[in-house]
Amino acid sequence: MDSNLPRAHSLGYSIGVHKFDLGLSLAPMAGNTNLAYRALCRKFGAELTTTEMVSSMALRHNDTKSLGYLAKASNETPVAAQIFGADPETLAIAVGSVQERGFDIVDLNVGCPVPKITGGGGGSALLLEPQLAFDCVSAMIEAATVPVTVKIRAGWHDNDKNAPAFSELMEKAGAAAITVHGRTREQKYTGRSDLELIKLVAQAVDIPVIGNGDVIDLESAQAMADTGVNGIAVGRGAMGKPWLFDQIRCHFSGIAIPKTPGADVRAELLIELGSGVAELYGEQRGMRVMRRLAADFFHGLNGAPQLRKQCGQLSTIRDLHAIAALLSAIKT
Ligand SMILES: Cc1cc2nc3c(=O)[nH]c(=O)nc-3n(C[C@H](O)[C@H](O)[C@H](O)COP(=O)(O)O)c2cc1C
Repeated sequence: MDSNLPRAHSLGYSIGVHKFDLGLSLAPMAGNTNLAYRALCRKFGAELTTTEMVSSMALRHNDTKSLGYLAKASNETPVAAQIFGADPETLAIAVGSVQERGFDIVDLNVGCPVPKITGGGGGSALLLEPQLAFDCVSAMIEAATVPVTVKIRAGWHDNDKNAPAFSELMEKAGAAAITVHGRTREQKYTGRSDLELIKLVAQAVDIPVIGNGDVIDLESAQAMADTGVNGIAVGRGAMGKPWLFDQIRCHFSGIAIPKTPGADVRAELLIELGSGVAELYGEQRGMRVMRRLAADFFHGLNGAPQLRKQCGQLSTIRDLHAIAALLSAIKT
């Protein structure tokens, strides 16, 4: 594919006062999309970032750890906070907590497949209870002064992909946008994100639809745009590759695609991320988080397996600098 010639697309939308030129967002990922990682993605053109999911029940009880997930930078805007739960009253209270912290958008998680979350009726379990989901979103909107959005999956069962009808209901409740991951709960992370289904969701509602799932390069970004969505949320494809946002942006803007950064630039980005994560969590916890995040920075480089192994031992900033030094010495 000649990436300087993007096919026509319907990308770009507004949520309230927030305008997104191409609608490129970083998908929320628990354990990964902390404040520091979000900053790195924004630097490369992610237009909308979202916190990791936070329990509405925990926010209701002012749980310190959960409030920590609501850390945001003063220059991080527009930024959404994602909450989960299945009790309208609790969700409404949590919306208040989120708003107090200056978030621009509140997103409801209707996608998480993990039994710990679905067991309480939250995450993707709400796909089985459309009326309850409607009540949850209505209560959130009632309590909110900022727009409320919803992130869903294709459906719960593979043989009942109810995302289009569910999205219509969310629109009726007043949701400002829908992000749809084209896998069912049954699939968890196996198989493929169903682009035909995402297309049906885009056709079903008039609010902006953000397509999600398996966007890892320009070709998959183009395929997602071809469904007629208004925005694209990139999750795993941006792990260790924050520059993917810039490449996608250039692709759809019809300008030259920036080269994938070499080892020396990646080493600088790794240190930038590690410093931010250490600032956020302290060195000890921060470097534990970096064991996972750092390992993603070596895609396609010689010596990646060895470096990844070394990431598993990370415990100090010094260790991270040692890994970055080895990384920057790799010839690309
Ligand atoms: C480690 C991990 C954590 C995730 N955490 C969340 C989350 O907190 N909230 C959410 O809505 N989705 C979460 N997701 C789902 C992603 O946002 C996204 O929908 C999914 O990974 C598919 O998109 P991708 O193929 O671009 O990664 C998570 C995914 C992964 C892999």
